[in-house]
Amino acid sequence: MVKSSRISGFYKQGVKERVGKIVELAGLTSEDAKTLSTGLSIEQADQMTENVIGTYNQPFGVALNFLINGKDYIVPMATEEPSVIAAASNAAKIVRECGGFSTKSTFPIMIGQIQLTAIGNHENARELILAEKNDLIRKANELDPVLVKFGGGLRDVKVRILDSIIGKLLVVHLHVDVRDAMGANAVNTMCEALAPRLEEITGGKVYLRIISNYAIERLARAKAVVSKDVLGGEEVVDGIIACYALADADVYRAATHNKGIMNGITAVVLATGNDTRAVEAGAHSYASRSGVYKPLSIYRKNADEDLECEIELPVAVGLVGGATKTHPTARTAVKILGVESASELSEVLAAVGLAQNLAALKALSTEGIQRGHMELHARNIAVLAGAKGDDVSRIAFKMVEEKAIRVDRAKELLNK
Ligand code: MEV
Repeated sequence: MVKSSRISGFYKQGVKERVGKIVELAGLTSEDAKTLSTGLSIEQADQMTENVIGTYNQPFGVALNFLINGKDYIVPMATEEPSVIAAASNAAKIVRECGGFSTKSTFPIMIGQIQLTAIGNHENARELILAEKNDLIRKANELDPVLVKFGGGLRDVKVRILDSIIGKLLVVHLHVDVRDAMGANAVNTMCEALAPRLEEITGGKVYLRIISNYAIERLARAKAVVSKDVLGGEEVVDGIIACYALADADVYRAATHNKGIMNGITAVVLATGNDTRAVEAGAHSYASRSGVYKPLSIYRKNADEDLECEIELPVAVGLVGGATKTHPTARTAVKILGVESASELSEVLAAVGLAQNLAALKALSTEGIQRGHMELHARNIAVLAGAKGDDVSRIAFKMVEEKAIRVDRAKELLNK
């Protein structure tokens, strides 16, 4: 566990110094540190997917200042978007001054679906399946003794009857405690293994058998209470609540509000080698659970007129299996983060999503987001003009000050 994730002036240091600091704080080996620049080898990539012709790099940084349930976290993020890491760090610093995030999560239960067709009497088929529930659970758990040894396994079987465009459908849900896995492999294997038995029981025919990414039984929550004084005053609290109100009332805004949340979450999911698409599908389907697409976070003023914020979303991530273990940089990312279970990772992700969202709403309700973006944009323009080393910051700063962020101006400044 890192002593503190509060590292003053980190962003002003060079990449080498930053790496040195993280190596020291997270107790990385020189081999771990090497993965930050070497990444995935072509041979490793070739084992992971098909038709490989290269590897694709992303900027990899760390968000600082995260205090969650009294524990400090340095949060690895892989993202191409400027300002995401700075914004998460800034919001985490504000929340830290107010006691940090508190988080919780449910058991890591994923749902698998087995669809039965050609059923005569759906109600009767449901009763027949439920009568065999214990046997189905025993059969499924025999398939995965390792998962059972670690305390997981198939916990429950549910049967749903749905109306559809092709008439009534019968769907069996397997509720599987997947422990520290993302769960797709364990759940899909169980679905495929139980399908023939379900056909026998009901006389029906199975086509579809697959995990559901609407991981509604695997939720993570994060909360924070932010004092109005630390935030910058009552007007900032009112502004943030006004921004939230629009997201609550309007899908056009809710989509962008949630996109901002996912800027943080997806960056950490990617950095740790997890499945970004699974987490995003879960988040957006959960946002629509009432039938209307809503923001994933909630903001309100408490009795002291401080800002209370919270988020809840499904987070299907793992620490065993998949790229989390095979991708060398992902392994280093997990070490930097210092999480010990998939549930702990899911809670950090909820806190990161909330921090990202708070940062965006604070900026949107005050100075807007462009200034922060412009600083990084200006750095890119300075590099394009040929600047190197300290000149990059110097020229970028001057262009922002002059509100003239152009390659020709960067070249003039460079020539001076
Ligand atoms: C940009 O990537 C994300 C924001 O649009 C999020 C938001 O508007 O809440 C700034």
